Amino acid sequence: MKVGIIGSGTMGSGIAQVAATAGWEVWVYDLKEEALLNAVTKLEKILKRLVEKGRIDDDKKKSIQSNIKYVDNLKSLSECDLVIEAIVENLDIKKKVFSEIESIVSDECILASNTSSLSITSIASACENPERFIGIHFFNPAPLMRLVEIIPAIQTKKRVTDKVLDIIQSWKKETVLAKDTPGFIVNKVARPFYSEAIRIFEEGMTDQAPPDAFATIDWAMTKYGGFRMGPFTLMDFIGNDVNYKVTETVWKAFYNDPRYTPSFTQKRLSEAGYLGRKSGRGYYNYDEKAKPAQANEDDSLGQEISDRIITMLINEAADTLHRNIATLEDIDKAMTTGVNYPKGLFKWADEISIDEIVNRMDTLYDEYHEDRYRCSPLLRKMSQNKNTFYS
Ligand code: NAI
Repeated sequence: MKVGIIGSGTMGSGIAQVAATAGWEVWVYDLKEEALLNAVTKLEKILKRLVEKGRIDDDKKKSIQSNIKYVDNLKSLSECDLVIEAIVENLDIKKKVFSEIESIVSDECILASNTSSLSITSIASACENPERFIGIHFFNPAPLMRLVEIIPAIQTKKRVTDKVLDIIQSWKKETVLAKDTPGFIVNKVARPFYSEAIRIFEEGMTDQAPPDAFATIDWAMTKYGGFRMGPFTLMDFIGNDVNYKVTETVWKAFYNDPRYTPSFTQKRLSEAGYLGRKSGRGYYNYDEKAKPAQANEDDSLGQEISDRIITMLINEAADTLHRNIATLEDIDKAMTTGVNYPKGLFKWADEISIDEIVNRMDTLYDEYHEDRYRCSPLLRKMSQNKNTFYS
């Protein structure tokens, strides 16, 4: 089978590696020759490391590399069964590329976008045959991250969705189905992990100056939440510019729902160029000479911080289920395989008890009277019924 990848940047080159590893013939196209050359060099480095680590042998390395052809003409993708676009995040440019590719490929070819934040339905509308268009959302780095979100546009035919699910599973990925809504599953449900942590910092709940306050919240989320990384450490990895932009996009796309309001703290960091690890400074200072941040390892404070953030995450997961954006199982799977949460949020709700989550949300709402802290009606309904999500 043949797949075309448009854009050979971070995501395109990673997706090409995934497909070639699964034995597909891959055609990678980019506007810039330099981007194609970079992709070749990057792949050689990655595969060499995999051979050194004993994950693949030399023959596999050669077969992956020979499966990928780097081309400077979109017409070379004419034989493809599937084309995945991973170019700049700009609706007009994406629409233009799809109307062009549609005149090159066969009628049977499935067309897909890897967009993180644009409407799949809107990109599909640029196609003459939008029924064959779908969102296939990989996570970065694509070869390592197990999850792929599959997002049918409202125009997409079911047989296209089914075929794409089969293909992506045959590429050894976990798939979940999401409705075409802002942030799909992961980028919506994960928002409170960052925003509630920032809010806790802004309110001075830890009674410390930065960066010690960040260290306390990070400590709370790793020790009591069981997360691999605290929110501030993670935001510094993702980049504050990127993380801020995702929050802002989701907030605007949900018509300024206060649950997603971006924070000035993060905006100012971006403006200052404190982008995180990539710029040497973010919430933390990564200069070797900088004094390490000191967490206040107070157990009751740690528990309180972790409870509040996990409660907000569960509330967001419940909202996502309530809007039928995805199934309960897929939401739990998305968060555990897409962002390595220690537990699915519905499983977590059951363990804590839905009653208790509702109480915590109501307590927050009573304190703030902000719409941001409104309890999902689904949680309230479940607490009055069987009080459990699974069983
Ligand atoms: P990138 O900037 O690393 O790569 C984009 C590539 O597309 C560049 O090589 C550029 O030369 C090329 N390009 C731009 N316009 C083009 C055109 N008209 N035709 C052909 N090639 C063109 O970007 P990245 O990070 O790989 O993102 C690509 C897409 O994937 C975006 O839609 C983004 O939202 C999405 N995405 C990004 C993730 C990430 O963490 N970076 C995660 C999941 C999705």
